[in-house]
Amino acid sequence: MIQPNKEAPILEMRGITKRFPGMIALNGVDFSARRGEIHALIGQNGAGKSTLMKILAGVYPLEEGELRIQGESMRFSHPRDALRIGIGTVYQDLSLVPQLSVAHNIFLGREAGNGIFINQKADRERSAQILTQLGIQSIDVDALVSDLPLAQQQLVEIAKVISHQPKILVLDEPTAALADEESTLLFKMLEGLKAQQIAIIFISHRFKEILKYCDHATVLRNGQLVKTFAMQGVSEDELVEMTIGERKETFFQQREQNATSEEIVLEVENLSVGRSVKKVSFSLKRGEIVGITGLLGAGQNELVRALFGTELEVSGLIRRKGKAVFIGSPKQAIALGIGLLTEHRKAEGLIVDMSVKENITLPSLALLFRQALLFIRNRSETQAANDSIRDLQIKVGSAHAAVGTLSGGNQQKVILAKWLMRDLDILMFIAPTQGIDVGAKAEIYRQLHVLAEAGKSIMVVSEDLIEILGISDRIFIMYDGQLSQTIDRAEASEEGLLSATQGYAHVE
Ligand SMILES: Nc1ncnc2c1ncn2[C@@H]1O[C@H](COP(=O)(O)OP(=O)(O)OP(=O)(O)O)[C@@H](O)[C@H]1O
Ligand SMILES: [Mg+2]
Repeated sequence: MIQPNKEAPILEMRGITKRFPGMIALNGVDFSARRGEIHALIGQNGAGKSTLMKILAGVYPLEEGELRIQGESMRFSHPRDALRIGIGTVYQDLSLVPQLSVAHNIFLGREAGNGIFINQKADRERSAQILTQLGIQSIDVDALVSDLPLAQQQLVEIAKVISHQPKILVLDEPTAALADEESTLLFKMLEGLKAQQIAIIFISHRFKEILKYCDHATVLRNGQLVKTFAMQGVSEDELVEMTIGERKETFFQQREQNATSEEIVLEVENLSVGRSVKKVSFSLKRGEIVGITGLLGAGQNELVRALFGTELEVSGLIRRKGKAVFIGSPKQAIALGIGLLTEHRKAEGLIVDMSVKENITLPSLALLFRQALLFIRNRSETQAANDSIRDLQIKVGSAHAAVGTLSGGNQQKVILAKWLMRDLDILMFIAPTQGIDVGAKAEIYRQLHVLAEAGKSIMVVSEDLIEILGISDRIFIMYDGQLSQTIDRAEASEEGLLSATQGYAHVE
């Protein structure tokens, strides 16, 4: 391809092939990036994006193909070597140490000092300086990482990598856990780095931000290069088509039927959680899907967490099927038929060295047990796992593969499958499609509808208004800890929701 920019790319990868036992993750892929650009790397879950970047970062050895940095052929035997050459990578899975402070994390492994004594004050100052440079001085450098919300942990991770002053910065789905506000902050930061002539490689499933901020894009499909192109003039539909390889009219369909019955399964009266949630009252019906949205920190996460028994300082009244109940722990919530899948999926979710099948069926073994005699148990488990693998399009060679060998998005699907299989009456989700590609999202929405039709009640917390509009029978808007508005789907529009989340009255 002829590039308008005559300067040679800072990064050139040619004919990159990577095999894992029984599969080819990358097949002769060419990829290059230039200084001062944000280059998007796009593709469905399992397309090979993270693998390509791990070869660049020295996590996997370069086995076939060529890697050039500033025209010079390179071969890294350790991520440390790549970092030294100027390749900074923010991985899809966070690698912070939760028990250490922000400053500690940023300078872990290369603390200031004379080699014997760590100069903590210097680290704190340098950390604060980096955070300020990045425009995120609101994060306290002495805070423990485990006490920070996921979005801030993500920003600390990025700060940590940037502190190495990379020439090439790779961000593998940095915005998956971020709400709009923080994403905007991140892009502001990236624009600054771009102006310093850093080459930025950006992996995301969010086409809107790719269209808005990226200069070029490369699409991978099934381990192969589809295309590299300039972003100017490209539409979202074209991106979708290139990614999944077929035209999809509306991958996202609004729900037509409404399975809501009159039976009230959960009633909440004057529920307050510390200072985050203020006297919220609502009732949830059998077969109903409620979407909850609001600006970051408006109390939506704390609200559902309180119903799962993980919040402190909860007051108010909760009735389950008409009876007042106390929910002091997840165990009690589950006993009451209430489940929550949070955005901290990795921490709560998977047992990485167990198979996909075991992970999917683990929590619902009891259910399968009841349905099947012991000797066919294993078969029905495999069957159930295979159904989920097919329905959610989980890209895996076999149900017996270890979960750790799956791509990030496919691991998410496994956790989701596991929760969809749970025999609970009320299923709550925070950001259920985070990190999941456009092709599989629609299937997840469909599954939620099937569950509602089967009589389950569902609450979905999401910042994605299109998602909220598409799946919900009713929409709750949280503003400043209060349930400020309840909107029926028929009356909701994207603009209406947007202004409602900002605290304005809903107007039709
Ligand atoms: N360590 C591993 N062992 C075996 N297979 C692997 C390993 N890592 C990745 N794979 C496989 O290689 C393929 C590409 O995975 P990769 O993680 O690069 O996908 P991705 O494009 O980053 O997807 P996502 O959007 O879900 O993060 C997948 O089929 C995955 O299962
Ligand atoms: Mg990935």
